[in-house]
Amino acid sequence: MSKILKANPIVESSSEELKKKAESLLSRGVTPRLDVILVGSNPASMTYVRNKKKRAEGLGAICNIHHLDEQISTEEFLAKVNSIQADPAVHGCFVQLPLPKQLDQINTHQLIRADKDVDGFHPLNACSAFSGEELNQHLIACTPSGIIDMLDFYDYDLTGKKVVVIGRSMIVGRPVAMLCLARNATVTICHSRTKDLREETKQADIIISAIGKANFLDKSFLNNQKNQVVIDVGINLDENGKLVGDLKAEDMQEYAGAYSPVPGGVGPMTINSLMKNLFKAAEKLNELGN
Ligand code: GUN
Repeated sequence: MSKILKANPIVESSSEELKKKAESLLSRGVTPRLDVILVGSNPASMTYVRNKKKRAEGLGAICNIHHLDEQISTEEFLAKVNSIQADPAVHGCFVQLPLPKQLDQINTHQLIRADKDVDGFHPLNACSAFSGEELNQHLIACTPSGIIDMLDFYDYDLTGKKVVVIGRSMIVGRPVAMLCLARNATVTICHSRTKDLREETKQADIIISAIGKANFLDKSFLNNQKNQVVIDVGINLDENGKLVGDLKAEDMQEYAGAYSPVPGGVGPMTINSLMKNLFKAAEKLNELGN
């Protein structure tokens, strides 16, 4: 039987720390505030935003959701985003993705100023992740830093390990590869043009899958002699409309040493990182007197 890397114990321990931080900020007259910009009514985005708000409020922060019309023009959208992030009471801000088609031309990575960019998408923040600086000091992309927190919590030392990342997005694949590199892993990034994915994954000590295909990664990708750790970043609906990851869970039970479940794995870790970023941003802005 393999070990299941649940987010719950990590989220609980982070919550204790973050609540203490909230009290400390409150004693200095500061209530951490997160403003979320949601355009239209994509059902998945609405669920994500609701969950983020619930978690932020549970920690003693304020969370305002700005729900904008699906048809909003680029000019109106940019004006709204800029007025929200200019408010000195706002410590953290993000635009829930995806955006509707008419806003396609906007560079979402540079939309939110770096010091309030709790998504960690801004080039200045991405650069911190890419240069291997200390995670705790910077606003690092949430899913990648959540994965590292998970590996740390369950005591996986990445030094000298072979990590195979599947997916090369700017939000997950590339930054998580760089964070693993900063932990002295040997990292391979695979993608849709990789010639023989199985050949790569079978050699890995740790596989991080951000493919986005339900139950794609089955036992044929694993090497059951290696006690592999498999991290599932996928959030997919299967043919019955059930939420599943990229991994075929029953195969993982038999062939992997450990794996993260969906739901209850990387998803909650991502929200956890968002909260850590919010409190970091609030602390920093407060120290600077902003
Ligand atoms: N949509 C899906 N994942 C994310 C994320 O991490 N941040 C934002 N802003 N939107 C998303």
